[in-house]
This record gives sequence, C-alpha cells and structure tokens, in this order.
Amino acid sequence: MRLKELDVPFVAVVTDIDLRGLDDEAFAELHASWLEHPLLIFPGQHLDRAEQDMFARRFGDLEFEAVAMSNIRPDGTVESDPDDDLVKSLRGNEGWHHDSTFMPVQSKGAVLSAEIVPNEGGDTGWADMRAAYDALDDETRELVADKAAAHSMTYSQRRAGYLPKKVVQDDGIRLYGYPEGDVPLRPLVKVHPETGRPNLIVGRHAHDVVGMSPEESERLLDHLNEAATAPENVHFHRWAPGDVVLWDNRRLVHRVTPYDMTQPRQLWHTRIAGDPVTEAALNHTPPGAAVT
Ligand SMILES: [Fe+2]
Repeated sequence: MRLKELDVPFVAVVTDIDLRGLDDEAFAELHASWLEHPLLIFPGQHLDRAEQDMFARRFGDLEFEAVAMSNIRPDGTVESDPDDDLVKSLRGNEGWHHDSTFMPVQSKGAVLSAEIVPNEGGDTGWADMRAAYDALDDETRELVADKAAAHSMTYSQRRAGYLPKKVVQDDGIRLYGYPEGDVPLRPLVKVHPETGRPNLIVGRHAHDVVGMSPEESERLLDHLNEAATAPENVHFHRWAPGDVVLWDNRRLVHRVTPYDMTQPRQLWHTRIAGDPVTEAALNHTPPGAAVT
C-alpha cells in the first residue's frame, strides 16, 4: 500500500491496494492512516456494491448499504426538472454538510464510489473541521465552547429552496432524513472519539444555537461555515469511474459541485453508522443507557 499526502494534509491518495481482500494487518494500517488522513482516495478500484459494503463494514455497522446518489430514474431516463423532489434532494448536497447530523445518531463516515460522471462539475469537496477549530481566535473558541445547535434537513432544505413537496410519501413512508420526534441537538465542538481532538460540527443542517436569537445564531453559524471552508482548507475530487473514497464524517464536511443535470451522474454511497454513544445527539438517549 502506497499513501501520498496531498497539499491539504487531511487528504491522502492510496494506491497499490485492493480493497476487496484486506487482511487484518492491512486493515489496521489503513485504519490508522484514516485517523490521520480523514479523507482517503482510492483511484480505480471498481468495486461492486457488495464489495463496497463489505469494505465499509470493516469500519463498523452500516447506517445503510450502498444506495445510488443518482439522477437516473429506474427506467433509464435522466431527471433534471428543478421542481422534482429527487433533483431538489441532490441539489441540496451542494451545501457543505456532515451526513446524518439530523438523525438521532450522526454517521461515522462513508464510502462513496463513482460509476457514471458528467463531463464537467459534479466533483465532491471536503473541508477539515479540525483545522477550522484550531484556526479559531480565542474569543470565538470561547463563544462556541459550550454551545449546541439543532440539526435538521427541514431547515437546510428550506433555506436552500429545496424542501420536498412531501416528507411522507403516498405509501406512508417518511423520506430519509426527516425523522419524527425532537430535532437533534449537537454541540458545536465535537471531541473525536478515536483521536481525542476537538473539531467543529456545523454544516448546513445546523441552526438555532441554544441561547441565541435566530439572527445571531445564523450569523455565527454562517461565519463558522464560511471560515471552515476557505479554499486552503478544502479538497475537491474530480471523479473518474471506479474511484472509491472513504471519509470520516465526525471530522469533515463535504459537498457536491453543480453540474448539468441533463447529464447522467451515478455514485454509490454506503453510510457507516456512528457509535450510538459518542455520535448520539445531546437530547437522544443511547440504547442501553441507564435511565435515571
Ligand atoms: Fe452528504
């Protein structure tokens, strides 16, 4: 296995490795590299969905198995109607976010692979919220220290103008990401459970910082998001079919860049579940926790 760190030090490109058959020793080496480089890029792996899920499972239980992040309908047509809920859901991902912070347990990370990519755009970018935290001035660091924010897709999609027409479908199934119950509250500063290092947890789903007015909260969160995603702190990956990436969602935010939606794009996303204790929302009781 060869690992090449990029100019932005949180990213490494890994070659001379086959993700299909990692023995325990190779996995341990890769896992250690991942904690240091929370975005690992594996060019040209060409995994099928089962192989991708198997690789993701090495890092923990899955929140969900490989799903298509795609504008291609089951009948093969490409969906580009801006009023269509699928298009709105895909376009929402153009805003920087952590995955599943709107769920009671946020995800640990994800494996994403490319199958069909447009000629232009549709890149995925990541930003390092640990470097963002480290770069805060003392005053801001003190301000965010004990603060918590609500996280919801209703907020983020509404603000971006992409709220779906129906959260509960005709068949009675709720759209993923719009859970019933209390909106999860998360601290603005998360201590990474495996490295012990603090990082910001913000992104587009965060809103209504507890103890602040909506305007004050939005100003603070917008400022934190903008500062965190300054060009020197981000990396954009131009996809080629067969590429696989693995990222640590406890530390990074990510987004997709716009592309011509009349062109087909299909990526596969496997989401690794967060630890039910360390990735639980503040107002969510982890399963098995003592109720007092
Ligand atoms: Fe995402």
